[in-house]
Amino acid sequence: MDRRKLLKITGLGFGSAAALGWGLNRFGIIGSKENYYLQGNYAPVNEIITEDNLEVVGSIPKELSGLYLRNGPNPIGSPNVKKYHWFTGEGMLHGIKIDEGKAIWYRNRSVGGDSNANTHVISHSGKIYAIVEAGGSPVEIDKELNSLSSEPFYGTLQTEGFTAHTKFDSQSKELHGITYAFPRGSYEAHYVVVGKDGRVKRTDLLPLSSGTMLHECAITENYVLVLDLSITFSFSKLVRGYFPFSWNDDHQARIGLLNRKNNNGEINWFNINPCYFFHTVNAYEDQQGNVIVDAMRYQRLFDKDWNGPFTEFPPLLTRWSLNLSNGNASEQQLDEFPAEFPRIHPDLDGKFNRFGYSLGTGSGIKPDFGRVIKYDFVKNINEVYELGQGKEGAESVFIPSENQKSEDEGYLMTYIYDKASDKSNLVIFNAQNIKSGPIAQIKLPLRVPAGFHGSWVPA
Ligand SMILES: [Fe+2]
Repeated sequence: MDRRKLLKITGLGFGSAAALGWGLNRFGIIGSKENYYLQGNYAPVNEIITEDNLEVVGSIPKELSGLYLRNGPNPIGSPNVKKYHWFTGEGMLHGIKIDEGKAIWYRNRSVGGDSNANTHVISHSGKIYAIVEAGGSPVEIDKELNSLSSEPFYGTLQTEGFTAHTKFDSQSKELHGITYAFPRGSYEAHYVVVGKDGRVKRTDLLPLSSGTMLHECAITENYVLVLDLSITFSFSKLVRGYFPFSWNDDHQARIGLLNRKNNNGEINWFNINPCYFFHTVNAYEDQQGNVIVDAMRYQRLFDKDWNGPFTEFPPLLTRWSLNLSNGNASEQQLDEFPAEFPRIHPDLDGKFNRFGYSLGTGSGIKPDFGRVIKYDFVKNINEVYELGQGKEGAESVFIPSENQKSEDEGYLMTYIYDKASDKSNLVIFNAQNIKSGPIAQIKLPLRVPAGFHGSWVPA
């Protein structure tokens, strides 16, 4: 456990492009030499399980009723060990139903359909979707984790595919996303808004042809952020059967602001130092009108390691301030603890957030996923809970309490893998006191492999 100052000024479910229109499997990605992303808890599980009899250690808060869902890769068959990329494994959902503080069931299910929607699972307007970037369609999921064949968003999606990450505007109840795909063999990116009725209400083609891997976006009150960073499509990797995105020294990394309150299509670009980030913590406009972006920054990746993101540089919490009056972007590293999978209060996308939560990945270049981190951006401190020897965490989802009095009143929920038992637990923390450890642990009948993203779907 640790509590210390974030660094002062010093200076990535993750997604999948498995569903490129061409179909990567045709090029032999799925088919061994060692591959880091097939070992340990990255390895897939083979059983499909429904378990109604779950042992609970501690006590689940009575106010929790809903589904905790998580998506991630679970490669089927024998992947080509040399070429397998973590982002390309077939999607599998792991879920727990909780009713008034009782664990009702655990189940895992493969994601159906042919789009390999393996990256995230979200709920919006009464529907649940498994989602992925780079051309794969969202797959609707029922409350028992079965994949449905219905058209996503009531058939209103105009783009090929969707995105792995949406941002929720809690005032308008709309979802915002930046999609990209290769619908006619060439790259197209769009800004898409899904209304509170669950139907797509806006689709803007973006003036962008760089082939950038647009894993995420961010919103602020007035803008949607286009994250045109240093990883772009690689045709040579594609034809050789590898994951087709690569570090690109020749591409200027930049953050674009597209006004989401008009439709003029112009993007105001801010050049930044070469980098990539999969995941923003959040973005918002400060009192001076600057746009602030916090994200888990990689110095370089998908350069030497063609199988995944973790073995080249660690992800570090970094802040960019975009000055709208002079067009400059400044950058500062906020913390020295490498971390990924940041989450915040679900209603604060695009608004100032005091708190954030992440998975500490460890100081080595091969992450241990060994800690849960909470950031306080007002006090400029973090709190760290070490999971302990042989334990590996995952993304923590923040669930606000009913009738919240402060932003961090609520729970963190995450899967934690225990090497000794080769099984996982669903673990619940009091978000106001992560240092004292879990308040409840639900024991699962199998392990939940290292995966990407998920959601709490309130009952
Ligand atoms: Fe992601």
